[in-house]
Amino acid sequence: MLSDLLIANLDNALRTLTGLQAGSDRPYPGEEVPDTLLRPWERQQAGRMMRVNHAGEVMAQALYTGQAAGTADPELKTQLEHARTEEEDHLRWCQTRLRELNSRPSLLAPLWYGAGWGMGFLAARQGRGTNLGLVVAVENQVEEHLNSHLESLPMDDERSRAVVAQMRDDEVGHAATAESLGAEKLPMPVRMAMGVFSKVLTRGALWI
Ligand SMILES: [Fe+2]
Ligand SMILES: [Fe+2]
Repeated sequence: MLSDLLIANLDNALRTLTGLQAGSDRPYPGEEVPDTLLRPWERQQAGRMMRVNHAGEVMAQALYTGQAAGTADPELKTQLEHARTEEEDHLRWCQTRLRELNSRPSLLAPLWYGAGWGMGFLAARQGRGTNLGLVVAVENQVEEHLNSHLESLPMDDERSRAVVAQMRDDEVGHAATAESLGAEKLPMPVRMAMGVFSKVLTRGALWI
């Protein structure tokens, strides 16, 4: 029913934007890793980087929610919702790390959410292959971005690295599953537009 769908979508948006996501019960990957990052300016830098990752995870919630809303295929919907639950863990972990580093989420989060939901819904309306194709394109982009953070996070920040590495491994899994279910390659102009958007997000959330 349309009203159920609307409520479920609003529920995800509100939970994502207020930090009340459910997720699974997977533990925080940084739990066992001592927080040895001491210099204040490095903590600030790591905080900014984790804010970018948090914004990316807000976007992931929006994309998967829009993608699930836009498909009538029950198997695909279940698959998208399963990945979204793992992304909720990512969001929770980024939030924890942000708090530890005395940082905060991006003030533009509602904007990232709106853009992501719209993009996900539009892709879903193009059919199963495009819907899954968006998963692959996004997850590949995120994997590359997280790998760059594993390199460029302050040297001593093994605790953030533990979080980022687990997220990266999950993103690789999401892309592989989407490939195996029949993802189609998105057209070049769409992939280019996504590249531009990801630059806007990674630069924007670094500061705002
Ligand atoms: Fe993620
Ligand atoms: Fe993912």
